[in-house]
Amino acid sequence: MAYENILLEVQDNVAVVTINRPKVLNALNPDTLQELEQAILEIRANADARVMVITGAGDKAFVAGADISEFPKMNALQARMFAQKGHDVFFALEELPIPVIACVNGFALGGGCEMAMSCDFIYASDQAKFGQPEINLGIIPGFGGTQRLSRLVGRAKAKELCMTGDQITAQEARDIGLVAQVFPHAELKDTVMKVAKKMAAKGRVSLRAIKQVIDRGVEADLKTGCAYEVESFATSFVSQDAKEGATAFLEKRKPEFKGSFTS
Ligand code: COA
Repeated sequence: MAYENILLEVQDNVAVVTINRPKVLNALNPDTLQELEQAILEIRANADARVMVITGAGDKAFVAGADISEFPKMNALQARMFAQKGHDVFFALEELPIPVIACVNGFALGGGCEMAMSCDFIYASDQAKFGQPEINLGIIPGFGGTQRLSRLVGRAKAKELCMTGDQITAQEARDIGLVAQVFPHAELKDTVMKVAKKMAAKGRVSLRAIKQVIDRGVEADLKTGCAYEVESFATSFVSQDAKEGATAFLEKRKPEFKGSFTS
């Protein structure tokens, strides 16, 4: 499909999606959300895409939020549809069976912070800024901010960020557990691609299982989470990649993980 608001490229088993509206700091309007949803479906169906990276065009912003120019024309029912669409797209991102890295190259505000939180982990530029500024517009986060932020950083910090609307630096975001690592701005994209390619060479079944077990487990009590792990451990054991992993170790060579989700 031809996209107008995003770029999609699959290179060395890594699918890179770039939100491409730099003039408005990559703000998410309904068309962009629709294209992102389509791109996620495309990546899901592409067996060559083993890891996904999502980033923003230009040097200044990852995504500066939902597109505020859409707000004045929305009534409550349209606002509900818009929020639901954001949730649908971000759940599709979260539920992709491959790892997704948020490459946060600048402002990640509102919907941008919410999009990053729907990824498996966030690598950020030392120039990035995070925040949920909706309170400054007289509204509240609508694409999962109140829910994913509190799960990631705890209720007090999530309330502080949502209630003040303040921006925090990438370093502060790392210190509260929102960001996995911070890199010098000029090195961010290369570092993300290096890590993405490293993960793309791992077993698909293992990557999917780790993602699902951690995501389901944190929502459950410890015993239920550990039961998920036992089941997935057993399933990963019968994969082609598990045989290759053990055989390669015993033969003192590097494993070549070529298994699919069905073998
Ligand atoms: N929606 C629509 N347009 C946006 C936008 C958004 N979320 N964020 C930025 N833009 C537009 C600006 O209107 C401006 O357009 P213009 O050149 O036609 O005037 C352009 O992007 C550049 O932004 P600008 O505000 O001039 O850059 P800045 O460096 O002074 O400030 C921000 C950067 C991110 C702090 C500021 O743009 C901002 O606060 N954006 C809104 C963030 C927000 O509230 N997000 C949550 C929305 S629910």
